[in-house]
Amino acid sequence: MSGIKKIAIGCDHGGYELKKEIIQHLLDRGFDVLDQGCDSTESCDYPIYAKEVTEKIQQGVADLGILVCGTGIGMSMAANKEPGIRAALCHDNFSAQATREHNDANVLCLGARVIGPGLALMVVDTFVDTPFSNDERHKRRISMYS
Ligand code: RB5
Repeated sequence: MSGIKKIAIGCDHGGYELKKEIIQHLLDRGFDVLDQGCDSTESCDYPIYAKEVTEKIQQGVADLGILVCGTGIGMSMAANKEPGIRAALCHDNFSAQATREHNDANVLCLGARVIGPGLALMVVDTFVDTPFSNDERHKRRISMYS
């Protein structure tokens, strides 16, 4: 168990449909979900929603964040500019597990044009269910860039 309860999630137009599936999945699993937009497939700017989600983590309101755009790349670049944010772009379970255990990643980024919904939900589950290892060598390395 990772102890994760509240998850903030955001997307741009490219990630809107996948975000809806992720939200329903997380609600079905009993998590509290904060939907920070966007609210349609109308073209919009992903940095706005990266900021909305990362602020919730910085404020301590959310335990983890999930950001979805077309590739996941723009979201991860924008999120990683924010203090205290360690955003990881993961399209496989190995990376999702490793980034929680080793990097204590607090934001998962996904590309809806890269990954199908079935695998995306598995990656989400792996990310939210995996705790940080709390290993001293990983803490030291994180402190070198946080
Ligand atoms: C939007 O067309 C697209 O650029 C965006 O969803 C994302 O892939 C950016 O990195």
